[in-house]
Amino acid sequence: MHQLLISCCILYFTTISHLERITSVGPRPVGSRENEVLTVNFLLEQIEHIKADSASGPHSVTVDVQKPTGSFSIDFLGGFTSYYDKVSNIAVRLEPKAGAQHLMLANCHFDSVANSPGASDDAVSCAVMLEVLHSLANLSTPLRHGVVFLFNGAEENVLQASHGFITQHPWAKQVRAFINLEAAGVGGKEVVFQTGPENPWLVQAYVHAAKHPFASVVGQEVFQSGVIPSDTDFRIYRDFGNIPGIDLAFIENGFIYHTKYDTPDRILTDSIQRAGDNILAVLKHLAMSVELADSSQYRHGNMVFFDLLGMVVVAYPAHVGTIINYLAAMATFLYLFKKSSHPTNATAVVILSWLVTLLTVLILAVLGVRRLELGELYFDVSLLLWSAALIFLTANDLCSAYVPMLMVAFPLVTKLLLTREFRLRGVSMKYSILYQLGLGLPYVHFMFLIWVVFEIFTPILGRCGTEIPPDVVLATLVALTVIFLSSFFLHFIYLARSTKWLLAGLGTVFTVFLLLVSCGLFFPYTADPSAPRPKRVFIQHTTRTFHGLDGQVESKDSGLWINSFDYTGMQHITPLIPEINDTIRTSCHDDRPFCGFPWFLPINFLAKKNWYLPAPEVFPKSPVKFQLLSKEETKWGTVKMTFEVKGPSHMSLYLKPHQDATLSSWSFGDGTPKLDLAGEYFIFYSHGLDAPVWNFWFEIQVLNIHFGRPLGMISVAFSAHYFFGEDQRTVQLNNMLDRFPKWAFASSWVSTYHMYRY
Ligand SMILES: *[C@@H]1O[C@H](CO)[C@@H](O)[C@H](O)[C@H]1NC(C)=O
Ligand SMILES: *[C@@H]1O[C@H](CO)[C@@H](O)[C@H](O)[C@H]1NC(C)=O
Repeated sequence: MHQLLISCCILYFTTISHLERITSVGPRPVGSRENEVLTVNFLLEQIEHIKADSASGPHSVTVDVQKPTGSFSIDFLGGFTSYYDKVSNIAVRLEPKAGAQHLMLANCHFDSVANSPGASDDAVSCAVMLEVLHSLANLSTPLRHGVVFLFNGAEENVLQASHGFITQHPWAKQVRAFINLEAAGVGGKEVVFQTGPENPWLVQAYVHAAKHPFASVVGQEVFQSGVIPSDTDFRIYRDFGNIPGIDLAFIENGFIYHTKYDTPDRILTDSIQRAGDNILAVLKHLAMSVELADSSQYRHGNMVFFDLLGMVVVAYPAHVGTIINYLAAMATFLYLFKKSSHPTNATAVVILSWLVTLLTVLILAVLGVRRLELGELYFDVSLLLWSAALIFLTANDLCSAYVPMLMVAFPLVTKLLLTREFRLRGVSMKYSILYQLGLGLPYVHFMFLIWVVFEIFTPILGRCGTEIPPDVVLATLVALTVIFLSSFFLHFIYLARSTKWLLAGLGTVFTVFLLLVSCGLFFPYTADPSAPRPKRVFIQHTTRTFHGLDGQVESKDSGLWINSFDYTGMQHITPLIPEINDTIRTSCHDDRPFCGFPWFLPINFLAKKNWYLPAPEVFPKSPVKFQLLSKEETKWGTVKMTFEVKGPSHMSLYLKPHQDATLSSWSFGDGTPKLDLAGEYFIFYSHGLDAPVWNFWFEIQVLNIHFGRPLGMISVAFSAHYFFGEDQRTVQLNNMLDRFPKWAFASSWVSTYHMYRY
């Protein structure tokens, strides 16, 4: 124990200093000196230090700097393709001196989005990983297996570096499982929000080893359903490496994620300590485990896991869960069946009688029947509805079915235990107290889940585009919450002696909040340094050049192109900057790829409303060089076009075939062109340092040559994004930024858009 205490404190102070060093260079987008040189050198220095420190121990530490080049397509954001060239990975292999056959992988990323110091996302995880590496390397007894610590330098570029590692690095084949450390918020506890696929031994290992485990299978099922607009390296390791893993993330205070406010001082020290302790313990446990060596044997099955009162994590195999769930549902039916006044054997009749019950409740409510009976009916109907949810979720193999299971089992058992008391004395004080105690556990757990939902979704609504009205989403969530929480308490309210006071109390709460909400006192954004909630905006100072079929420039314009991240659009900005108003709203040019604007991610379906304010042309010092190298007909009747592009670290390529032309193959991903939601093609390109020119090709299949084609077969456009350095800003951009209110966070850069038709 003593040893543990000492190592925990060392861990904490050095971790903070690592975090401060990494973030001190500022934003670290891929391709910047900050990311590729300063941060890489700092990490290598620290790793060398750890290596020297632990040289006399039983472990060896090997460092490899990888600069992978590759390409892949994924379904994220409606489907898009990625190409990367010489991004940075620092892989550190820690193993017993005799060597290891099987490896655990721990992953963090040190790059950040443009204009954010990225302390929580994800420098803090890399800082923690450095210290965990140090502690493991220092162990006096050797680990059974090895651990690869991957400090990856291109995650914000949509998961490129992890792809480079898992598909190309020689150590990747030995990796049996991974832990990924991510951020969707700042601080709080880190939550296990997905595990698997399958491999229940991994969750078991986490639950067993972590000092402060915090996990819920509900989170996993919600995240994997796709309603949260973000993704992690987990996807890459799972889909391209076929490796199971654990995804951990900080989730609290998502308001400042990806903004300039994501600084080290906002990360709570407790969070760092807790994360460090957990990861150290879990990695150590897994690197000692038998399962890692032969994970195929333990592969099958899923786990139901959830946190109870923040104290213990309950975990059991999914098939056990299914049995428990069906038992609980059956018990409900038996209970209701016994109570039903017209017992018949036919199930159909029973179900019918339940429906009648439901109707009866409503009718009785209107007619004002005796309270006692009504209270009973409310209880039965609640039980019935929760059982229906239980059966539905269980039948669909969702592990989250444990929630309705708790909401059925606890009330039912409580009710049965209290039957005698109820018969003898009606709703006595004792009955009330015991009834509430019996419901306490499922209710507290349910309220915790609801807290997580609000904690995650409220900030997300500030960055999920101009099309989703946050008030409607939140109102729905609140209404559902009230319905869920009130289910078993309606029974209680009806039985309570002083219904009058209860209703008066609830009525007052309702009126007060209604007044507060309607008086418009609450402004959604704030720059309060202790708890900022910025409005998110993207501003690109861009110059667009459109070429016609003959190769001549058809039109050219420049402006500040403004994207709102949320539903309020520019309505709060317009009073302060009057020229940003709806007269400059853009409309989509359907004949141009991606409406003719320089999207750096294919999020055009989320952020449909944007604004374009005329401004002078931009002249970046490193302009793009674009060349069509060849255009030839293939033997199999397609047209193959080959291009060469030299430009800044971030570019987007957009392809829009016209009329009856389709892309049949290309040089990206697995060779099969991947359409996005709108039927266009989006390729995200980025490079680290010293990358060669970008060469690519595609083949077009044209079905009918004879029609006139005013737009040609295909429009090819690309945009260059200057995310850092002297090319990032212009005078006009700076002036506009100065005029933005403090409560807005405008992430801005210079870009160019070029379109050609063939
Ligand atoms: C590792 O061991 C060295 C020397 O044995 C010691 O100085 C150092 O503090 C230890 N570090 C950690 C993190 O345990
Ligand atoms: C809206 O913007 C246009 C163009 O920037 C400007 O001329 C006009 O005055 C603005 N309208 C208002 C009401 O401020």
